[in-house]
Amino acid sequence: MTNILYINASARKHGSLSRMLGDRFVNGWTGRDGVGDVRHRDVGTNPPPIISEDWIAAAFTPRAERNGAQHEMLALSDQLISEVSQADVIVIATPMYNYGMPGALKAWVDQVVRVNETFTFDLARGDYPLEPVLSGKTLVLLTSSGEFGFAQGGTREEMGHLVPHLTTVSKYLGAEQIHSVSIEYQEFGDARHSRSIATAKEQVDELLKDLSHAAA
Ligand SMILES: Cc1cc2nc3c(=O)[nH]c(=O)nc-3n(C[C@H](O)[C@H](O)[C@H](O)COP(=O)(O)O)c2cc1C
Repeated sequence: MTNILYINASARKHGSLSRMLGDRFVNGWTGRDGVGDVRHRDVGTNPPPIISEDWIAAAFTPRAERNGAQHEMLALSDQLISEVSQADVIVIATPMYNYGMPGALKAWVDQVVRVNETFTFDLARGDYPLEPVLSGKTLVLLTSSGEFGFAQGGTREEMGHLVPHLTTVSKYLGAEQIHSVSIEYQEFGDARHSRSIATAKEQVDELLKDLSHAAA
C-alpha cells in the first residue's frame, strides 16, 4: 500500500495549473490498485503560521521539558510532521511566486523541518552536522510559472529558485527519489503555453505509470 501526501500551494482555487497537475496525478493514482491513504494538505488556501521566537524556543526545548504552552505551540508542527512521516509519496503542487516557492509553502517547510524530528544535529559529524531522520520517500514536484526557461540549461536557470530550493529541502522530508514536471509560459498564454500544458500532462501520466508499476 502506498500512502500519498498531497500538498497544494497555489493561492488560487480556480484556474490553478499546479492544482490541475496535482489533481491529475492524485486522481490517476487513486484509480489504481495498491493505494493506501491520500492525505490532502492545502497550504495555499490554509497557510500554516510563520514560525516565531517562541516556536523556535519550544522546538529546541527537549520534549520532556516543554511546558503546556510549548506543546500547544508545536501541535500543528507535530501534525504536519506526522503527515510527512506516514507518506510514501509526497506530491507538492506549487506555483512559482517571485522566482521561488510561495510564502505559504515556505511556512509549511519551516513547520516540518525540525530538530530531532525530521533532522538530527551533531557537531561530531564535522562540517555537515545535519542528518535526515526520514528516508525512502518519493517526491513529486508539480509546478507552474508565468515565464519560462528555469530548468537546467534554460535561459532563466539562474533565476529559478523553486525546484532547486525544494530539492535541497526534500532531503529532510525523507525524499530519496525526486520527479519534477513543470508548466511554463502561463503569462504568455500562447502556443508555447498550450504545448507546455500538453507536455506536462503527458509527463504526469508517464510518471503515474512508472511509479504505480514500481509500487505494485
Ligand atoms: C504573486 C505572484 C508572483 C509570481 N511570480 C512569478 C515569478 O517570479 N516568475 C514567474 O515565472 N511567474 C510568476 N508568477 C506567475 C505564476 O507562477 C503563474 O501564474 C502560475 O501558473 C501560478 O500557479 P497556479 O496556476 O497554480 O496558480 C507569479 C504569480 C503571482 C500571482
